[in-house]
Amino acid sequence: MPRRRDPTTDDPSPTDTYGAGTYGRAFADVYDEWYHRVTDVEATTALISSLATETGADAPILELGVGTGRLALPLARTGHEVHGIDASPEMLARLRAHDPAGTVVPHLGDMGRTLPAGPFSVVFAAYNTFFNLVDEDSQRSCLMMIAERLTAAGVLVIEAFTPAREDRGGDRTGGDRGVEERTAPDGGRILNATIRDPSRQTITGQHIHIAPTGEVVLRPWMVRYLHPEQLDEMASGCGLRPVARWGDWDRGPFGPTSPRHVSVYRRDP
Ligand SMILES: C[S@@+](CC[C@H](N)C(=O)[O-])C[C@H]1O[C@@H](n2cnc3c(N)ncnc32)[C@H](O)[C@@H]1O
Repeated sequence: MPRRRDPTTDDPSPTDTYGAGTYGRAFADVYDEWYHRVTDVEATTALISSLATETGADAPILELGVGTGRLALPLARTGHEVHGIDASPEMLARLRAHDPAGTVVPHLGDMGRTLPAGPFSVVFAAYNTFFNLVDEDSQRSCLMMIAERLTAAGVLVIEAFTPAREDRGGDRTGGDRGVEERTAPDGGRILNATIRDPSRQTITGQHIHIAPTGEVVLRPWMVRYLHPEQLDEMASGCGLRPVARWGDWDRGPFGPTSPRHVSVYRRDP
């Protein structure tokens, strides 16, 4: 594990300025248009729904970082009660606008500090959202709260990218800097500038969105990534033991070259 930051001696950290609500504030206006097909919605909702049914308890499902409801809304249509927490009022406002009947129960809050009471049959974080907790303490605190809120047979499911081997904390000190360019859905350009810090296991990014009108909008983002085995170790320390790992939401195999994983944890008895 990377060492803890010492605020008295270390350089300022990007986490000093990046808060729980930063991502949502920056991306809410474009999230639906840019990311509605970013991961497999049907496979995700099918797997989460069947895992909830397999637990045998009639307890609700909780999505961490529910955003605008891309996954939670179709999941609610499978018949389960679905709750979603998000730190961004802007994201939750869009969720409410998509859900006039109130099929998803929204909770405003930082998932590193607070979670709804539960109990829940399934708690899940899709599309790297667990890595939106950008320091080790908040990741650990979130896992501990989840362990306290799962039903006896309940499960935590985390979908995340698999970092490259050389990105393990402490293996390198230099870090990476890069800029990728692509066409924006509005026909403008997006420059995605990133700084990777292997010692903190963080990637700090900035979407520089140049609209066709010439207007420039900055959209900051940040993740603290974990290798799958680091996630297992952290979860185990919080009372959640690893029970399955797949390479996708269809329960496909996970291997050493899998770009992402879907990992399942069960509460210690
Ligand atoms: C990448 S988006 C994913 C949204 C949705 N889960 C999906 O798959 O479309 C991440 C979401 O997590 C929220 N988020 C980031 N940090 C958070 C935190 N500390 N607590 C709660 N929500 C957070 C953001 O506001 C955003 O809505």
